[in-house]
Order: sequence, then C-alpha cells, then structure tokens
Amino acid sequence: MEILSGGTVVDGTGAARFRADVGIEGDSIVAIGDLSALPGRRSDATGLFVTPGFIDLHTHSDTTILRVPQMSSTVRQGVTTEVCGNCGLQLGLAVNTPEFEMERRLSHWSGRFSWRSLGEFMARVEEMGTAANLAFLAGHGTLRKRVMGWERGAPDAAALRQMRDLLREALEEGAVGLSTGLEYPPGRYATVEEIAVLAEEVAAVDGLYATHLRDEADGLIEAVEEALEVARRSGVRLQLAHHKAENRPNWGKVQHTLARVDAARAAGIDVACDVYPYTAFMTGLGVRTLPAWMQEGSVEQVAERLRDSATRARVLAEMSRMAVDWEHLQIGVSPHDRSLQGRRVVEIARERGISPAEAVIDILAQATGVVAVITFAIAEEDLRTVLRHPLTSVGSDSGTRHADGPLAEDRIHPRGFGTFPRVLGRYVRETPVLTWEEAIHKMTGLPASRLSLARRGVLQVGAYADLVAFDPATVIDHATYEEPHRYPEGIRHVFVNGVAVVRDGKQTGALPGRVLRRGSR
Ligand code: ZN
Ligand code: CU
Repeated sequence: MEILSGGTVVDGTGAARFRADVGIEGDSIVAIGDLSALPGRRSDATGLFVTPGFIDLHTHSDTTILRVPQMSSTVRQGVTTEVCGNCGLQLGLAVNTPEFEMERRLSHWSGRFSWRSLGEFMARVEEMGTAANLAFLAGHGTLRKRVMGWERGAPDAAALRQMRDLLREALEEGAVGLSTGLEYPPGRYATVEEIAVLAEEVAAVDGLYATHLRDEADGLIEAVEEALEVARRSGVRLQLAHHKAENRPNWGKVQHTLARVDAARAAGIDVACDVYPYTAFMTGLGVRTLPAWMQEGSVEQVAERLRDSATRARVLAEMSRMAVDWEHLQIGVSPHDRSLQGRRVVEIARERGISPAEAVIDILAQATGVVAVITFAIAEEDLRTVLRHPLTSVGSDSGTRHADGPLAEDRIHPRGFGTFPRVLGRYVRETPVLTWEEAIHKMTGLPASRLSLARRGVLQVGAYADLVAFDPATVIDHATYEEPHRYPEGIRHVFVNGVAVVRDGKQTGALPGRVLRRGSR
C-alpha cells in the first residue's frame, strides 16, 4: 500500500475537511483514516491538503497532446483529468482535406493526420500514454466542416443527417458530448435548429453539450438564451464555457445571465458553467478584429486575400464600423514574427505610423501560423461573481504544454500554467471569495458530476486514486502575461490512477493517464 500520511482531507463534495491518512492500492483508494499502524510506502502530507485530483472541464489539449504527452502544465497544477475538444474544435475529427489546414496549424502538426475517426485518435493517444486522464468532446465546427466545408447556409436534410451520423459515431466511440464555438466560422453559421437536432443525439446518451456562446460581449444575454433554448428543445445537459462579459459596457451582465441559469435550473434544465480566474481572454487576432467572412479558410488563404488591395480596402472599411477596443489588445502568439509577441496593437501601429486596423491587416497578411491576441476586458468583480456561483466549475481553456521545447516559444495566456493554483492562492487564501471546500468542489466533485464520471472527483474508498496533496499556505500561480510558462508553487504530490506523476514537487515522467470513454467505469 502507498500511504499519503498526516494530511487534511478535503473530499471534493464540499463537506468540511478532516485529518486522515489516505491509502492507495493499485489504481484505487482503499483506506481513509488513521493508517499509522499499516505497513507501506509513505508520502508525507503533514500540513498539506489532500484532495481528489482536479478536473479541467474546458481544455484544448487535443491540439497539443501528441506533442506533450507528459502534460507538464496540467499535472503540475494538480489536474488529473481534462476534457478536450472544446469550442467546436476537435483535432481527432479533422481529416486530410484543405478545410482542416487551420487545425494543423493550431496543433503544430506538420504531417498528415493518421487517424480517420475520433476512436482512432483516442486509440493513438492511449497507445502513446499520457500523464493525466483525457475525455473527448466532439467539436461541432469540425463536424460541420467535414460535411459542409465553409458553407454559410443551413444544412439540407442530407447534410444534417451526415453530421448527426458522424456525431453518433463519435459518441459511440466514447466522446463524452458535443462542443460548439458559435463565435467562430463555421460554427457561427449554425442556427438553434441545427444545434438542437445534434444535441438530441447527445441527450440520448446523457452526454454534455458545452458551448462557447455566439457572443460574450454586447449579445451575451441573447447568446445565453439561445444556449438555454437548445437545452430546452433537446433535453441536453448544458455547460456554458468560460463564462464572462467582455468589454466595459457589458460588465455586470453576468449577474443577469447567472440569474437566468438559476431560473432555468428551477425549470428543469440541467445547466452549469465554468470559468478561468483571469481578467483577460485570448483568441485569434482575426476572430477579434476581422469581419466574419474574412476569417474563413486557412491562415495562408486569409493572408493571401488580405494582400489583395481591393479586399484590403473593403476589410478596412468594415473594420472601421466594428468598434474594436484597440487599446486593450496585446499580441500573444505570433509564429511568423516572434518580436510582436507581448506587444500592444496600438503600439505597433504608432511605431509604423498607421492605424491599428491597418497594423492588424499587415500582421495577418504575413502570418504563417495562427496569431493569437490577449484582450484585457473582463471585470474582476464579474470574475468573482461567476466564480462564487455554486454551479461554476474551474476550467483553464488551454492546451497542455511544457515549459520548454518548441511550443514554449508561443506567448500563451498564463491560464495554461496557472488556473487551478491561482484560484486556490488568490481566491481562497488571499481574498476569501471561496472557502477551501467550495473551491475544491468546483475543481473536483462538481466537474465530475457534469461528466457523469464514475469514481472520480471525490476522495472516498473505492474511487480511483487521482489525488493531489498541496500546501494551503503556499499554493500559488507564477505564470504571468509576460512569462506564461512558469509552473505554480505548492503542488507537492499528484497521483493519477494510483501512480505518482508529481512527487515532492517534481514530475516523475510516469504516464498513467487513461482515455475516459463515455460510460466507462
Ligand atoms: Zn472558447
Ligand atoms: Cu476554449
């Protein structure tokens, strides 16, 4: 037996913490209590909180997992299970046609995709081995592109049937649900009708429908209504992703949307949300600034169109009507010109003696990879309001990474390395927005229940030994917008399926993670 001894257990249910040793045998928790008389290998947890491994409901690790199986940014935060395939995008459903060039770029994938279905992708991940467990969502944008390419209209009956069949296949192969990215093409071309039909398939297997709303700024409230309507029509369980209100005029709207969530719950809709603990969001520079029609196609196709002077003029004219808040945009990832990373768009424009819109067009016209932008436009008070809500889980909205290696050149959002320790250090210890028990529940028992995950997310005898032991006095994030690849502090031991992936703060290199297929026990 392996024993985590002398710690304080926070069991993930929200119940009050208590002193206990935790005994692990094989992949499971076999004993909780005073185990001082038992023989076994001991990991000292004196002064530490021992909790279920954290579950990150919202990630994009399908895009990085084949490059980073050791999942360093994940396990060093104490995360032992991730749900990938969010925001409508699932690399495991991409195929080798030109429409999927963007997925190839996003995933830093140069070769052909060697998988033909999500099931094959899962098998490949499984064969390779991963440090943490992974569950997969089917991405609606990816599915739609498979069937309709970049077509803007509604699907005809045949196309809808095809999408439905692809989704059903993914669910049968073990996907835990469906995600949409209704702000991005081609997801944005979908109507409530289309999504509700697909969501019925998800509801039929009691899966989860996770949506990146159509609008998180001026149209936030209407976008939440739309998501609730999908749930009402299909009976699907609904997850509102990375909930927030973007841009100052919309601050405070989360009070209203959360009240709608409560009312919908009372009316029988199974809805909840998740959040990351930052006041900036990150997305594609094009998504943030270009008219929708200009965002279609691969990075190269967009760049080529932007180099055409007539198109450029038309785009500029449309951009001038879009009221982009240029002041708060900072270039994050810029593969073709790393010197832009960390610089504000207005600064670049001033230096070049052109307008911010022109600067953006120039940057995107040269791009060879996805350029990402960080926008400082979320209210701290809203973040706290969302975090405090009893139905809110914690989700990082990141793909797993390692602090060095080729991917580390990307100036990513710090949430990728800091989300979970940041909630604990800043929103429990430093400012009492949540209690320890509440915060841990939002990272464990609550997200496990959203996924109907058996034997995970709670620390009890018979559960899988996905465990974290962290120091409540020191746990904190260190990743910043300037240096996003810094590991957090205070996460001492992490176990996945009974195997230590972090011991005494050091990653062991073990790959005990499993693919968590829907319904697997
Ligand atoms: Zn999203
Ligand atoms: Cu996302």
